[in-house]
Amino acid sequence: MPPRRTGAAPDLMERPLVLAVESSCDETSAAVLRGPRELLGHVILSQDAHSLYGGVVPEIAARAHIAAIDDVVAGALREAGADLAAIDVFAATAGPGLIGALLVGLTWMKAAAWARERPFLPIHHMEAHLFATAIADPHAVPPFVALLVSGGHTMLIHVREWGTYELLGETRDDAAGEAFDKVAKILGLGYPGGPRIENAAREGDDTAFDFPRPMLATNQRPEDADYFDFSFSGLKTSVLTRVRSLEREGKLGSSIHDLAASFQRAVIDVLVAKTLRALDWTRAPRIVLGGGVAASRSLRTALDDGLNGRATLHVPPPRLATDNAAMIASAAAFHFARGATGALDATARADLPFPGLERSRTARSR
Ligand code: KG4
Ligand code: ZN
Repeated sequence: MPPRRTGAAPDLMERPLVLAVESSCDETSAAVLRGPRELLGHVILSQDAHSLYGGVVPEIAARAHIAAIDDVVAGALREAGADLAAIDVFAATAGPGLIGALLVGLTWMKAAAWARERPFLPIHHMEAHLFATAIADPHAVPPFVALLVSGGHTMLIHVREWGTYELLGETRDDAAGEAFDKVAKILGLGYPGGPRIENAAREGDDTAFDFPRPMLATNQRPEDADYFDFSFSGLKTSVLTRVRSLEREGKLGSSIHDLAASFQRAVIDVLVAKTLRALDWTRAPRIVLGGGVAASRSLRTALDDGLNGRATLHVPPPRLATDNAAMIASAAAFHFARGATGALDATARADLPFPGLERSRTARSR
């Protein structure tokens, strides 16, 4: 029999009761999960204060996590009908994210694990986004192409099996969600930008302005550095330039909806085209979306239309698309089942490396 690193019984290995916290940005969240998918308790508290500033203020985020975390953890445990003594595995996001914010959740969970003499598992936030969809949809499992689109990241990953990740493409500058947030600020729509732009776009004409589709040319080939990569910063500047000239002409007020719709269309065109390229390249049978921008109905519809039955599209419910602790717990259950033994010496890192991720040799970008 192969040695079992934790010494735990097989049923505990596969269906441990996991308590996880997510505090990498502006959501304080805790979840209790049995095994990789059975969600027993889940609380997500979004911090509102940042909307005053048009973006997340790290110091405010860290303080708000401290104020909320006890109640959020207690709420998740109550919902699950469990107490700390029942928990087999403790987990928290260790990065990437805001360092002060990360430390709040990580320190809480490490202390609890130490007190209860149970393993603590540090989890990578973006790897966890890969697991989110499968909590609600049992078919969202490898092999698949993942499009991860959040406020901090934009990544196309070929997932042949859990734990082994081939990075096909990523953003060279702004993340997709970040572009939505910055353009929403330019248009005076507030924060978070994605949903506000999507709302404004509903009443706009997406052909009104011809914004660029960055890194998307029809003559690119898979060997080209920019075939799978993204870039959104130039698009944002192009919106800014247009806004300034409309302002000078006194036409800005009447153009907001058209600007939102045309910008959103440009981002989505690029995301869809690159995802379809990844699908052709990998021949994966399904696509899994993750990250806050996956909450966009317009993106889902455009992907569905573009796919035209070539592969199945798996999208997380909105609550599991944006930041949440259920996905952290699910990733922890996977690593525990694989034999991870816990690391009380783990620390938070703003730039934590993605475990098991390797840049594809075909899609060379640097
Ligand atoms: O994954 P997430 O909750 O946090 C990070 O890890 O960054 O993603 C947040 C991002 C924000 O940039 C927000 O504007 C974007 O997700 N977002 C959307 C939509 N809902 C949220 N972007 C486009 N359309 C949406 N409906
Ligand atoms: Zn996220």
